[in-house]
Amino acid sequence: MQVTPKIKVVRRLRWADPTLSWGFVPTMGYLHAGHLSLVERARADNDRVAVSIYVNPTQFAPTEDLSTYPRNMERDLALLREVGVDLVFTPDNDVMYPPGFQTSVSVNDVSQPLEGASRPTHFAGVTVVVAKLFNIMQPTRAYFGQKDAQQVIVLQRMVRDLNFNLDLVVCPTGREPDGLAMSSRNVHLSPEQRSAATVLSRCLREAVVMLHAGERDGNALRALMRDTIVAEPLATIDYVSVADPETLQEVEQVTDRALLSLAVFFGRIRLIDNMLWLTPTN
Ligand code: PAF
Repeated sequence: MQVTPKIKVVRRLRWADPTLSWGFVPTMGYLHAGHLSLVERARADNDRVAVSIYVNPTQFAPTEDLSTYPRNMERDLALLREVGVDLVFTPDNDVMYPPGFQTSVSVNDVSQPLEGASRPTHFAGVTVVVAKLFNIMQPTRAYFGQKDAQQVIVLQRMVRDLNFNLDLVVCPTGREPDGLAMSSRNVHLSPEQRSAATVLSRCLREAVVMLHAGERDGNALRALMRDTIVAEPLATIDYVSVADPETLQEVEQVTDRALLSLAVFFGRIRLIDNMLWLTPTN
C-alpha cells in the first residue's frame, strides 16, 4: 500500500497502467466499518483501490467541530492495509488549498434545504474538495454512503453538471447491531447519549412501517418522527424531513418515493440519519 500526501505521486501511480480501473473512497479518516464496506465494494468492482484521508476545513463552519473532529492516521492506515488498499492520499491543507486559492464549486438548489439550511456553507466546502479529489485521482468509480443522503444528491448533480468522467456508486448505510448509523462522531457520545441515539433509526423505521401501511400524509409522517424523538429527553431535534428524493423539497403527499431524514443533537453532538422509501413493486 502506497501512502502519499503528494498530488504528483497520486497521478503517477494512477496512470502507471491506464488500462486498470480505479475505485476511489474519499474520507475524513477515523475509519469505521461503514468506510471499510465502501472500500470492500470498491475492491470488488475495480482493479485498484484508492482512499483519501483529509479532514476538509472548508466544510466546517467556524462554530463546528473541526478542531475536535476525531483523527487517528496510524489506526486508519492499519485498517486500510488489512482490507487491501493500493493507494492512500493524505494531503495537508497546503496541498489542497495553497496560498491564493480562490475557486468555488457550488451546486445550487439541492444544497439549500436540510443540512444546507442548518449548515449554510457546508456543501460548498464538500463540492470544492470532492471536485479537487476527483481531478487529482481521476477514478473510474467513486464510492459514497447513503448515510449522507443529501451529500450524495449534491455530488450526483455536480458530476452530471460538470461532466466528471466517473461513476458515482452509492452504498447502503452501515449500522451498529442496535440500528445506530455508523459515524466517526459516534465516538464522542456519552454512554447515555449513545443509547438514546437509537431513537433515530427507530423513528425512521416507524415512519417506513406507516408508509407500508398506507400513510401518505407528509405532515403525519413528520409528526410521528418528531413525537418519537421528543419522547427521548437527551435528544434535541434540528430537523425532521419527508422530502422528494430528487429535489429535497418537503412533500405534502408521498407518491411513489420519499427520503425520510433527520438531524438531532445529543448534547453538542449532531447526528444525521435517513431512509429512502420506494413503493414496493409487488
Ligand atoms: O463524507 C465525507 O466524509 C466528506 O464529506 C468527504 C466526501 C470525504 C469530503 O470531505
